[in-house]
Amino acid sequence: MKELAVFAPAKLNLTLDILCRREDGYHDLKMVMISVDLGDTLMVRLREDRKILVRVPGTDLPEGEDNLAGRAARIFFDETGSASGAEITIEKRIPAQAGMAGGSANAAAVLRALRTLLHPALTDRKLEAMGEQIGSDVPYCVRGGTALAEGRGERLTDWPPMPPCRIVVCKPEFGLPTPELFGRVRVEKLRTHPDHEALHAALLGKDLRAMAKLMVNVFEEVLTPQEAETIGDIKARLLRFGAAGAAMTGSGPTVFGLFEDETAARGAFDALKAVYPQTFLTRPAPEV
Ligand code: C5P
Repeated sequence: MKELAVFAPAKLNLTLDILCRREDGYHDLKMVMISVDLGDTLMVRLREDRKILVRVPGTDLPEGEDNLAGRAARIFFDETGSASGAEITIEKRIPAQAGMAGGSANAAAVLRALRTLLHPALTDRKLEAMGEQIGSDVPYCVRGGTALAEGRGERLTDWPPMPPCRIVVCKPEFGLPTPELFGRVRVEKLRTHPDHEALHAALLGKDLRAMAKLMVNVFEEVLTPQEAETIGDIKARLLRFGAAGAAMTGSGPTVFGLFEDETAARGAFDALKAVYPQTFLTRPAPEV
């Protein structure tokens, strides 16, 4: 086999807590993430000349090894001593700078594709360790599903899967660069923190209503008044249309709402899409 098409699901944060700023400039986090069936499709083709080419048609995203997908291929070939190259074409659906780990999801998909094509016996742990060298969210994206992430984001624990639901995801037009948002946080000034014990219990009990109300993202406390107004507007619309709960994902600015009811979710999707063109209707990705 010389080529493989792989799906790269986006992630959403049910919670995001920042525990402390570390000596190395990173922050210790505690967050619960889920994968959704909104994602990118990648075609990964092996080359014999060690070159790594990345194409993302219709976008101005970086190509080659400046793209996290290309960087993932380089790390995979170096770590496995492979003399191959790769040609990667990405069909992009996950919005950029959205808090949905679009770049990390692509990198993880490349690692999984290259494992299948070249080294099927490589363990998940090994692949996640390669992911850690690429970015803090990549190990989670390698694993997928519902998981608690700690440390920089690389210490993962599997959590009970999401109950069936519909998810409306809405990205306002502005982007929020992750390092800038981290720079705004003074950990000792944060007022709210997620209750992870209660969230775990709600997931175990498949109680969507209870878990949706426990979603907390501390980055929402450091938004400028203008950003907060837009995030607040999207949340209010989602709740008005019957969402069981709504939160910002990652370092934003994307907001999502969880719905028990398909019709209510469709209503919210149609209404939000008219105001915010980057609105999507999705659901949790099936877990293995
Ligand atoms: O690891 P990654 O390259 O994705 O991180 C991007 C930036 O986000 C880092 O340079 C850092 O500023 C910030 N970050 C952080 N703590 C984390 C993860 C990311 O401060 N746990």
